[in-house]
Amino acid sequence: MNYKNLILKKILSVVGARPNFMKMAPVHKDLKKYKKVIHKIVHTGQHYDKKMSDIFFNELELPKPNIYLGVGSGSHAEQTAQIMIELEKVMLKEKPDLVLVYGDVNSTIAAGLVCSKIMNGDGNCIPLAHIESGLRSNDRTMPEEINRILTDNIAEFLFVTERSGYENLISSGFKRENIYFCGNTMIDSLKGFLLKADKSRILKNLCISEKKYALITLHRPSNVDDKDNLGKIIKIFKNINKINPNTDIVFPVHPRTLKMIDKFKLRKKIDTVKNLILTGPLGYLDFLMLMKNAKYVLTDSGGIQEETTYLKIPCLTLRENTERPITISEGTNVLCGLDEKKIFKTIKEIESGKFKKSTIPKFWDGKSAERIVKILLSKI
Ligand code: UD1
Repeated sequence: MNYKNLILKKILSVVGARPNFMKMAPVHKDLKKYKKVIHKIVHTGQHYDKKMSDIFFNELELPKPNIYLGVGSGSHAEQTAQIMIELEKVMLKEKPDLVLVYGDVNSTIAAGLVCSKIMNGDGNCIPLAHIESGLRSNDRTMPEEINRILTDNIAEFLFVTERSGYENLISSGFKRENIYFCGNTMIDSLKGFLLKADKSRILKNLCISEKKYALITLHRPSNVDDKDNLGKIIKIFKNINKINPNTDIVFPVHPRTLKMIDKFKLRKKIDTVKNLILTGPLGYLDFLMLMKNAKYVLTDSGGIQEETTYLKIPCLTLRENTERPITISEGTNVLCGLDEKKIFKTIKEIESGKFKKSTIPKFWDGKSAERIVKILLSKI
């Protein structure tokens, strides 16, 4: 496609789920410096609870979305289709010169598909930039993996966060000139808001002390939509408590996970775990504070593997694979799946000060959005 004659006046970012907001915030901030460019935020409404959405816009100092689609939850097909139907109307009216999408959620691929099917007068579709391109878990049972592969294939600009992203794209036949290694905008947000997070009172409110608690997050369907696996995870909590009764376990529960705990009637079992502190979903700053001061983190999230690497906090990932291998080779991440032996061997290493040393990956320096915006504004 030939975008040489395009003038970049209007850019739309499409976001929908919690991790999108942190990835977009620094890009929005940087685009604001260019007075001739209008940047509008479209929120699909994939995440809609105040604690999953509004609190992030407030804490990340983002303006209210210019356009809110209010799509909400549903099956993958329902959610993706509904976002596409609503977004097509927006794109036809707004006629953006470029659309930015982030990460790998259903809102990302839905927006990409809409852009790739709307033709401008010059015979081109709406150009798409994929921020956090090229990551691959090679596990096609993950809905996010399909979203990543498809979005990359319809994007014109592929911004990668780590070297593996670049390599994956090259080995899949993508053109070198469309790939840009700029770093991680989620880390831009983290770096930018760490000081502010220090003011959080979450440790006091939960009556916990620095380095005396494990932080848990869980929301992957493979872990929480499966009764046996969710049962295994509760057993892991119990064993953490048995091995180290002085370690608190802080578990902010994602709405999907809460739904499944109730569906599988696991409430009573969870309540028997000593030292377990359950909370609802937390805001960005409280969660940063909790991550930064945790003894270690147990998670199945993608972003948290990266954030803990930056913060140099040991991260035990309760998954069989990761699309973010740099967090293992250079960072603090250890892939444990639900293998109790591996989990407790790693915890032992942490407790005895023998946990691996880590470094911060290239370009995770707080300037990724700046690089991305510079490239976009110079290219088009
Ligand atoms: C989505 C993303 C996942 C990302 C995660 C971050 C997809 C396929 N998945 O997963 O990649 O890591 O967000 O959190 O896009 N719900 C609420 N309130 C909300 C949002 C959701 O109660 O504000 C409940 C609903 O019951 C919903 C369920 O959570 O059905 C799952 O939400 P959904 O957005 O479909 O997937 P997540 O598990 O959040």
